[in-house]
Amino acid sequence: MRIHVAFTPAEAAEAPTGLVVDVLRATSTIAQALASGHGRVLCCGEIDEARALRESLAEGLLAGERACVRIEGFDRGNSPSEFTDGHGETVILTTTNGTKALVAASTRCDRVYAASLLNLEAVVARAREEGEDVAVICAGVKGEFVLDDAVCAGRLVAALDGEPTDAGVAAMRLASAFPSVEEGLRASQSARNLMNAGLEEDIAWCARESELDVVPRLARMLDGAAEITL
Ligand code: MLT
Repeated sequence: MRIHVAFTPAEAAEAPTGLVVDVLRATSTIAQALASGHGRVLCCGEIDEARALRESLAEGLLAGERACVRIEGFDRGNSPSEFTDGHGETVILTTTNGTKALVAASTRCDRVYAASLLNLEAVVARAREEGEDVAVICAGVKGEFVLDDAVCAGRLVAALDGEPTDAGVAAMRLASAFPSVEEGLRASQSARNLMNAGLEEDIAWCARESELDVVPRLARMLDGAAEITL
Protein backbone atom coordinates (compact mmCIF):
# COMPACT_ATOMS: atom_id res chain seq x y z
CA MET A 1 0.00 0.00 0.00
CA ARG A 2 1.61 3.24 -1.22
CA ILE A 3 1.08 6.19 1.11
CA HIS A 4 1.53 9.65 -0.31
CA VAL A 5 1.10 13.06 1.32
CA ALA A 6 -0.02 16.13 -0.64
CA PHE A 7 1.11 18.99 1.60
CA THR A 8 -0.91 21.64 -0.26
CA PRO A 9 -4.18 21.50 -2.22
CA ALA A 10 -2.38 22.60 -5.41
CA GLU A 11 -0.83 19.17 -5.75
CA ALA A 12 -4.22 17.64 -6.66
CA ALA A 13 -3.11 14.17 -5.55
CA GLU A 14 -5.05 11.14 -6.83
CA ALA A 15 -5.39 7.74 -5.18
CA PRO A 16 -8.14 5.17 -4.59
CA THR A 17 -8.35 6.28 -0.95
CA GLY A 18 -8.14 9.95 0.01
CA LEU A 19 -7.73 11.03 3.63
CA VAL A 20 -8.49 14.74 3.81
CA VAL A 21 -6.89 16.53 6.77
CA ASP A 22 -7.76 19.93 8.17
CA VAL A 23 -6.89 19.17 11.76
CA LEU A 24 -7.39 22.81 12.88
CA ARG A 25 -10.32 22.50 12.61
CA ALA A 26 -12.72 21.38 9.88
CA THR A 27 -12.06 17.63 9.80
CA SER A 28 -11.83 17.48 13.62
CA THR A 29 -15.19 19.25 13.84
CA ILE A 30 -16.75 16.88 11.28
CA ALA A 31 -15.51 13.84 13.25
CA GLN A 32 -16.82 15.37 16.49
CA ALA A 33 -20.22 16.25 15.02
CA LEU A 34 -20.83 12.76 13.62
CA ALA A 35 -19.52 11.06 16.77
CA SER A 36 -21.93 13.18 18.82
CA GLY A 37 -25.02 12.14 16.87
CA HIS A 38 -25.40 14.68 14.08
CA GLY A 39 -26.79 12.87 11.05
CA ARG A 40 -24.59 14.20 8.26
CA VAL A 41 -22.31 17.10 7.43
CA LEU A 42 -22.83 18.82 4.08
CA CYS A 43 -19.54 20.51 3.21
CA CYS A 44 -19.81 23.58 0.99
CA GLY A 45 -16.95 25.56 -0.50
CA GLU A 46 -18.66 28.92 -0.31
CA ILE A 47 -20.93 30.80 2.11
CA ASP A 48 -23.60 31.46 -0.53
CA GLU A 49 -23.76 27.77 -1.40
CA ALA A 50 -24.29 26.89 2.26
CA ARG A 51 -27.10 29.45 2.62
CA ALA A 52 -28.77 28.24 -0.62
CA LEU A 53 -28.56 24.60 0.49
CA ARG A 54 -30.13 25.46 3.84
CA GLU A 55 -32.95 27.18 2.00
CA SER A 56 -33.57 24.38 -0.48
CA LEU A 57 -33.41 21.64 2.17
CA ALA A 58 -35.45 23.65 4.69
CA GLU A 59 -33.48 21.96 7.45
CA GLY A 60 -30.02 21.86 8.99
CA LEU A 61 -27.73 23.86 11.21
CA LEU A 62 -25.74 26.44 9.29
CA ALA A 63 -22.17 26.33 10.53
CA GLY A 64 -18.76 27.62 9.58
CA GLU A 65 -16.14 30.30 9.75
CA ARG A 66 -14.17 32.87 7.90
CA ALA A 67 -10.95 34.06 9.54
CA CYS A 68 -11.82 31.47 12.24
CA VAL A 69 -14.89 33.47 13.33
CA ARG A 70 -18.51 32.29 13.06
CA ILE A 71 -20.15 33.67 9.90
CA GLU A 72 -22.80 36.31 10.50
CA GLY A 73 -26.28 34.82 10.79
CA PHE A 74 -24.97 31.24 11.13
CA ASP A 75 -26.10 28.94 13.95
CA ARG A 76 -22.63 27.64 14.82
CA GLY A 77 -18.99 28.39 14.16
CA ASN A 78 -16.33 25.74 13.48
CA SER A 79 -15.30 24.72 17.01
CA PRO A 80 -15.63 21.00 17.74
CA SER A 81 -16.96 21.92 21.18
CA GLU A 82 -20.08 23.36 19.50
CA PHE A 83 -21.01 19.90 18.19
CA THR A 84 -21.20 17.66 21.23
CA ASP A 85 -24.95 17.17 21.42
CA GLY A 86 -26.42 15.92 18.15
CA HIS A 87 -29.87 14.46 17.58
CA GLY A 88 -29.65 13.41 13.95
CA GLU A 89 -29.52 16.97 12.59
CA THR A 90 -27.87 17.87 9.32
CA VAL A 91 -24.93 20.27 9.64
CA ILE A 92 -24.28 22.50 6.62
CA LEU A 93 -20.64 23.52 7.00
CA THR A 94 -18.46 25.97 5.10
CA THR A 95 -14.88 26.74 6.17
CA THR A 96 -11.98 28.60 4.63
CA ASN A 97 -9.96 25.56 3.55
CA GLY A 98 -11.21 22.22 4.88
CA THR A 99 -14.61 21.97 3.24
CA LYS A 100 -13.12 23.04 -0.10
CA ALA A 101 -10.48 20.30 0.20
CA LEU A 102 -13.20 17.69 0.75
CA VAL A 103 -15.16 18.88 -2.27
CA ALA A 104 -11.98 18.83 -4.42
CA ALA A 105 -11.02 15.32 -3.26
CA SER A 106 -14.38 13.98 -4.43
CA THR A 107 -13.21 14.20 -8.04
CA ARG A 108 -9.82 12.58 -7.48
CA CYS A 109 -10.33 9.64 -5.12
CA ASP A 110 -12.70 6.66 -5.22
CA ARG A 111 -13.24 6.90 -1.47
CA VAL A 112 -12.81 10.03 0.61
CA TYR A 113 -12.58 10.15 4.40
CA ALA A 114 -12.32 13.11 6.78
CA ALA A 115 -9.26 12.41 8.93
CA SER A 116 -8.02 14.13 12.07
CA LEU A 117 -6.12 13.24 15.21
CA LEU A 118 -9.41 12.69 17.06
CA ASN A 119 -10.37 9.77 14.80
CA LEU A 120 -6.90 8.70 13.66
CA GLU A 121 -7.02 5.03 14.66
CA ALA A 122 -10.50 4.47 13.23
CA VAL A 123 -9.62 6.00 9.85
CA VAL A 124 -6.32 4.13 9.68
CA ALA A 125 -8.03 0.82 10.44
CA ARG A 126 -10.53 1.44 7.61
CA ALA A 127 -7.82 2.36 5.09
CA ARG A 128 -5.71 -0.64 6.05
CA GLU A 129 -8.72 -2.96 5.71
CA GLU A 130 -9.30 -1.63 2.19
CA GLY A 131 -5.59 -2.08 1.45
CA GLU A 132 -5.44 0.33 -1.50
CA ASP A 133 -3.06 3.20 -2.15
CA VAL A 134 -3.69 6.24 0.01
CA ALA A 135 -3.26 9.97 -0.56
CA VAL A 136 -3.27 12.06 2.61
CA ILE A 137 -4.49 15.44 1.39
CA CYS A 138 -3.65 18.44 3.56
CA ALA A 139 -6.08 21.35 3.32
CA GLY A 140 -3.41 23.93 4.19
CA VAL A 141 -4.28 27.58 4.71
CA LYS A 142 -5.25 29.56 1.62
CA GLY A 143 -3.19 27.23 -0.55
CA GLU A 144 -0.09 27.29 1.64
CA PHE A 145 1.65 24.52 3.59
CA VAL A 146 0.80 24.49 7.30
CA LEU A 147 2.51 22.56 10.07
CA ASP A 148 -0.63 21.34 11.84
CA ASP A 149 -1.92 19.38 8.83
CA ALA A 150 1.58 18.10 8.04
CA VAL A 151 2.02 16.83 11.62
CA CYS A 152 -1.36 15.07 11.51
CA ALA A 153 -0.42 13.62 8.10
CA GLY A 154 2.83 12.29 9.59
CA ARG A 155 0.93 10.58 12.41
CA LEU A 156 -1.42 9.01 9.84
CA VAL A 157 1.42 7.77 7.63
CA ALA A 158 3.22 6.23 10.61
CA ALA A 159 0.07 4.43 11.75
CA LEU A 160 -0.83 3.25 8.22
CA ASP A 161 2.50 1.43 8.09
CA GLY A 162 2.61 1.05 4.30
CA GLU A 163 5.15 2.15 1.70
CA PRO A 164 5.50 5.90 2.11
CA THR A 165 6.59 8.15 -0.73
CA ASP A 166 9.32 10.70 0.04
CA ALA A 167 6.55 13.13 1.03
CA GLY A 168 5.19 10.48 3.39
CA VAL A 169 8.62 10.00 4.97
CA ALA A 170 9.02 13.77 5.31
CA ALA A 171 5.65 14.03 7.08
CA MET A 172 6.56 11.26 9.53
CA ARG A 173 9.93 12.83 10.32
CA LEU A 174 8.35 16.21 10.80
CA ALA A 175 5.73 14.82 13.20
CA SER A 176 8.37 13.05 15.26
CA ALA A 177 10.48 16.24 15.53
CA PHE A 178 8.01 17.71 18.06
CA PRO A 179 8.00 16.56 21.70
CA SER A 180 4.23 16.11 21.45
CA VAL A 181 1.60 16.26 18.76
CA GLU A 182 -0.01 19.24 20.51
CA GLU A 183 3.27 21.15 20.32
CA GLY A 184 3.38 20.39 16.62
CA LEU A 185 -0.08 21.88 16.18
CA ARG A 186 0.77 24.89 18.35
CA ALA A 187 3.76 25.74 16.13
CA SER A 188 1.48 26.28 13.12
CA GLN A 189 -0.03 29.34 11.45
CA SER A 190 -3.47 27.76 11.92
CA ALA A 191 -2.90 27.72 15.70
CA ARG A 192 -1.77 31.35 15.68
CA ASN A 193 -4.91 32.26 13.75
CA LEU A 194 -7.05 30.51 16.38
CA MET A 195 -5.18 32.20 19.24
CA ASN A 196 -5.69 35.60 17.62
CA ALA A 197 -9.41 34.85 17.38
CA GLY A 198 -9.58 33.85 21.08
CA LEU A 199 -10.12 30.18 20.24
CA GLU A 200 -6.97 28.68 21.78
CA GLU A 201 -8.85 25.93 23.63
CA ASP A 202 -9.71 24.34 20.27
CA ILE A 203 -6.04 23.45 19.75
CA ALA A 204 -5.88 21.12 22.76
CA TRP A 205 -9.29 19.67 21.82
CA CYS A 206 -8.11 18.80 18.30
CA ALA A 207 -4.73 17.45 19.53
CA ARG A 208 -6.30 14.49 21.35
CA GLU A 209 -5.46 11.34 19.44
CA SER A 210 -7.90 8.51 18.67
CA GLU A 211 -10.63 9.64 21.06
CA LEU A 212 -13.45 9.10 18.56
CA ASP A 213 -14.27 5.81 16.91
CA VAL A 214 -15.77 7.26 13.72
CA VAL A 215 -14.88 7.14 10.03
CA PRO A 216 -16.59 10.06 8.29
CA ARG A 217 -16.86 9.25 4.59
CA LEU A 218 -18.01 11.03 1.49
CA ALA A 219 -21.36 9.43 0.68
CA ARG A 220 -22.25 11.53 -2.39
CA MET A 221 -22.23 15.02 -3.82
CA LEU A 222 -25.44 16.96 -3.23
CA ASP A 223 -25.89 20.23 -5.14
CA GLY A 224 -22.12 20.79 -5.14
CA ALA A 225 -21.74 19.92 -1.44
CA ALA A 226 -19.81 16.89 -0.17
CA GLU A 227 -22.20 14.86 2.00
CA ILE A 228 -20.19 13.31 4.83
CA THR A 229 -21.77 10.54 6.90
CA LEU A 230 -20.75 7.48 8.90
C1 MLT B 1 -10.43 25.82 7.57
O1 MLT B 1 -11.24 25.20 6.91
O2 MLT B 1 -9.64 26.60 7.09
C2 MLT B 1 -10.32 25.69 9.06
O3 MLT B 1 -11.10 24.71 9.55
C3 MLT B 1 -10.30 27.03 9.70
C4 MLT B 1 -10.74 27.04 11.13
O4 MLT B 1 -9.94 26.78 12.03
O5 MLT B 1 -11.90 27.26 11.39
